[in-house]
Amino acid sequence: MSAPVFSDNRSEHALDQHRCLSEAYDPITRSRLAAAGVGSGWRCLEVGAGNGSIAAWLAERVGPDGWVLATDLEPRHLTCRPRLSVLRHDIRYDPLPSNAFDLVHARQVLPLLPDRLSVLHRLIGALRPGGVLQLDDLDLGYGPALLTPDQRSAELYARFLAAKAEVMSATGADGSWGSRVATAMREAGLVEVDPVPHLSQWRPDSPGLRLQLNHTYRLREPLLAAGLTEDDLTDLRALLTDPGFRAASCVFYSVQGRRP
Ligand SMILES: C[S@@+](CC[C@H](N)C(=O)[O-])C[C@H]1O[C@@H](n2cnc3c(N)ncnc32)[C@H](O)[C@@H]1O
Repeated sequence: MSAPVFSDNRSEHALDQHRCLSEAYDPITRSRLAAAGVGSGWRCLEVGAGNGSIAAWLAERVGPDGWVLATDLEPRHLTCRPRLSVLRHDIRYDPLPSNAFDLVHARQVLPLLPDRLSVLHRLIGALRPGGVLQLDDLDLGYGPALLTPDQRSAELYARFLAAKAEVMSATGADGSWGSRVATAMREAGLVEVDPVPHLSQWRPDSPGLRLQLNHTYRLREPLLAAGLTEDDLTDLRALLTDPGFRAASCVFYSVQGRRP
């Protein structure tokens, strides 16, 4: 089964995308996991682990008595190390142990999967009773340009975001899933559900805007099919690297729930 266009690790742009995600969100993800008590002896599942930055951090944190399993549809950017196992695994279909993990974490994986609710139930089934699920996912519905050299640039950025949303929904991805995670967790039976939203300013050197730049290359063909032109993409790249450009980030939701 191939990966969605946004997350195919065989792409030449994949590592840069993972680097941007790690730089932008690892500090938030790590501080939430630490607050949940992840520590010595925990057994953790990191789903769709990307470049493995969170899996490696977990492997340090759980110490000699713990264990981390990092899975990915295409795990070519993951490396095994002490206490960290890597598995090529499709979270939609491949077997998962039941009642096995103290922590299950996934970031920016479920939004890509059309059958995300059934995946959510699979993740919960992999938790031991009392175990913690943390989903860290974006809502791309907010994130306007705040300061541009001219009105045309503001309109171009808005058209880019709209075209990206169209490309995402054509693949069955859900760009606003982040804001619905908490409700989905509650409806799936988790308790102590706790959604924390994060918003920030993006500048051209922010990983969030570098990720947008990455997408102008990575999604070139679908963006052209969605109505942008080559000139638009050239102008966008200039805007995204213009030192005066400012945008609001999209909203990053870090959501925890506990299996009763
Ligand atoms: C947007 S990247 C996020 C990577 C990482 N979680 C992070 O936030 O830095 C999505 C990751 O999910 C993986 N993925 C996509 N579909 C998957 C599936 N069905 N099962 C497991 N992993 C999947 C991709 O290969 C990719 O590594």
